[in-house]
Amino acid sequence: MELKKVLLIGGSGFVGGWVANRLTERGIRVIIPTRHRDHSRQLILLPTVYTVDADVHDPQVLASLMSGVDAVINLVGILHDRDSSQPYGKRFAAAHVELPKKILLAMRQAGVRRLVHMSALRASDDAPSAYLRSKAAGEAAVLGAASELEVTVFRPSVIFGPGDSFLNTFATLLKLFPVLPLGGGAARFQPVYVGDVADAFCACLTDRATFGQAYELCGPTVYTLRELVEYTGELIGKRRLVIDLPDALAYLQASLLSLLPKPPLSPDNLRSMQLDSLSDGRHNYPGWQPRSLEAVAPGYLSAVTPELRFDGYRSRAGRK
Ligand SMILES: NC(=O)c1ccc[n+]([C@@H]2O[C@H](COP(=O)([O-])OP(=O)(O)OC[C@H]3O[C@@H](n4cnc5c(N)ncnc54)[C@H](OP(=O)(O)O)[C@@H]3O)[C@@H](O)[C@H]2O)c1
Repeated sequence: MELKKVLLIGGSGFVGGWVANRLTERGIRVIIPTRHRDHSRQLILLPTVYTVDADVHDPQVLASLMSGVDAVINLVGILHDRDSSQPYGKRFAAAHVELPKKILLAMRQAGVRRLVHMSALRASDDAPSAYLRSKAAGEAAVLGAASELEVTVFRPSVIFGPGDSFLNTFATLLKLFPVLPLGGGAARFQPVYVGDVADAFCACLTDRATFGQAYELCGPTVYTLRELVEYTGELIGKRRLVIDLPDALAYLQASLLSLLPKPPLSPDNLRSMQLDSLSDGRHNYPGWQPRSLEAVAPGYLSAVTPELRFDGYRSRAGRK
């Protein structure tokens, strides 16, 4: 299968930039619909990427975006929904469940057969978090179309890399506060590098063996959240006192933070951490070799600011 043009829905975000980069390297034309074209100026620098202002929830807009497309990648995802309806609120439903269904319908109508869809590790109907329940429903809709379309689902653990909102958020907090009260510090993760995630998305596009399959994307090492915060502090030269919050206080903290315009944490995020975000490696994408956190994170975290870069060097040399 030769790919000339890919529709990258949700391509204007953190993971999307990396996937777009990889597709560009292969000379593939990439169409990225976005609600905020002015926020995605960095993508315009990529030679074969075209960003368009579009409401992908509108079936007519989706239909026009499918024109001449060889494959679709769907990365749309949100972390917060203040609507606490069961099994998930309206925003999660629209982004994670209804949109994938609309994409499948538009693909059938346009005769586009290939879809690679982003889910999340531990997504399931009975997960404790609405985010994970809604991701499971979207994933089920996509895999349910496997008899007529060529679909693949990826389920990553938390993703790190330059521009992430995971370790970079800790770096900002550690820089600002001398003490960090942390909820869910014992939760375990297998963080995966965004460049490796992008590689898996691009490699599978033309790999027939991946049709109808769901793969986990997890890094090689397991860390607790507390270990990740402490490692971030070490890299930026801001070793801080990290205090484990008891559950009740952690949920209170998350409830307050969720009121911010761009919440760094919500009670639903904490509920998702009740499940370890780990893999036994049996469902990883075959032949795929993820890089370690230690091989990548120093390169971008230590460079947060020149001042912090030198603090990080001193810290690792045991001089601070
Ligand atoms: N980052 C992680 O650690 C992680 C871990 C596991 C799974 N995932 C999944 O990976 C995917 C990409 O994550 P990311 O970190 O790249 O997210 P991100 O940086 O927040 O980007 C989200 C993308 O989705 C689009 N989007 C958000 N809400 C939308 C809505 N209501 N309607 C239409 N488009 C919408 C945004 O487009 P606009 O330009 O229109 O805003 C943007 O392109 C998501 O599905 C996420 O759930 C991420």
